[in-house]
Amino acid sequence: MVLQAIKYSRGQLEILDQLKLPHAEEYDHVYSSTDAWHAIKEMRTRGAPAIAIVAALGLAVELENMKLSSVAEEVEIFAIEKLNYLVTSRPTAVNLADAARKLTKIVQDAAATEGATGGDVKEAYIQAAEQMLVADVQDNEAIGKHGAEWIMQNTVAGKQGQVSLLTHCNTGSLATAGYGTALGVIRSLHSKGSLKHAFCTETRPYNQGSRLTAFELVHDEIPATLVTDSMAAALLRLKGPTEHIAAIVVGADRVAANGDTANKIGTYSLAIVAKYHGVKFLVAAPRTTIDLDTKSGHDIVIEERPGREVTVIKGPRHDGVSLDLNVVETVSIAANGIGVWNPSFDVTPAELIDGIITEVGVIEKDSNGEFHMDEVFKTEGTK
Ligand code: MRU
Repeated sequence: MVLQAIKYSRGQLEILDQLKLPHAEEYDHVYSSTDAWHAIKEMRTRGAPAIAIVAALGLAVELENMKLSSVAEEVEIFAIEKLNYLVTSRPTAVNLADAARKLTKIVQDAAATEGATGGDVKEAYIQAAEQMLVADVQDNEAIGKHGAEWIMQNTVAGKQGQVSLLTHCNTGSLATAGYGTALGVIRSLHSKGSLKHAFCTETRPYNQGSRLTAFELVHDEIPATLVTDSMAAALLRLKGPTEHIAAIVVGADRVAANGDTANKIGTYSLAIVAKYHGVKFLVAAPRTTIDLDTKSGHDIVIEERPGREVTVIKGPRHDGVSLDLNVVETVSIAANGIGVWNPSFDVTPAELIDGIITEVGVIEKDSNGEFHMDEVFKTEGTK
């Protein structure tokens, strides 16, 4: 069975509530842009591509089911207002802002067409939003393929036939429309028999690794081991038959024009650890995550989340022997009164990144050690 975080058909949208995973698989209905905004803000849906798609489809469902004005300009104004609102839900992942910008242009063009009605603007919007869902899965499969090939050609273990990888956060079917980016690379290697073992970090404080990536790895029966974030350096020292990490592959929330990459907090530490150990460090992201308007990582706004995400954990009761899924407990794990800093993302300097895997190929640095992210928009498609 394929994991599906987003279930969509015309006029209907459901999202898998990721706060309840891995213990319960429950879907929430999203009826409107307001519902989508809350699902994103509360992290019931998360991951850069998934956030953009849920936002786009949340408004598509609202437009499909509401009684709309027949005046094209009125529908245009309504849609643009909602898109601007959706963008305020989470600031760091650029995919949402990118989707909103593209959809805004679509409704503007549709409304400006001679004789257009409100229904025409609605239809143009919905078709474009639906296309984003389809395109994301195709892009992820291409990312998986390019990443797997690069790793097999550019690592010692790859040249010998099988690799072990470490990944961080969740970048799989739950973070995208399907298949995943960094986890898509792992899936691709696994499907070819080229993956020896996957290691995933717990990814504190929100545990996207232990709750979500581990869930996907178990679901797909991929040989895998969970480690805490603080174990990465020790893991990279190991040279065992399975524990010899060939590369660290992570996703991204925003890649600046110079290749600096914002991703889940802890990514920067992993890149430093990889550099020290001579292990390849790769970022896997669709072109919708590349933001040419952001020149470097210094310009990326990092979302700060509530301190309680660090001081408190939530989960089903465990009595030391078994789980009771009917009782969800919230437990304090920090000294009462301590101050907390909780940035949700960090920025990894391009200097520490060996390659950026996109759906059109792997971007490497030039002879001066610089990425040219604009190159990916020259091959096909435009920004
Ligand atoms: O806070 P989250 O869970 O939305 O953060 C997700 C990440 O940082 C992912 O690594 C990133 O969005 C890439 S998802 C394909």
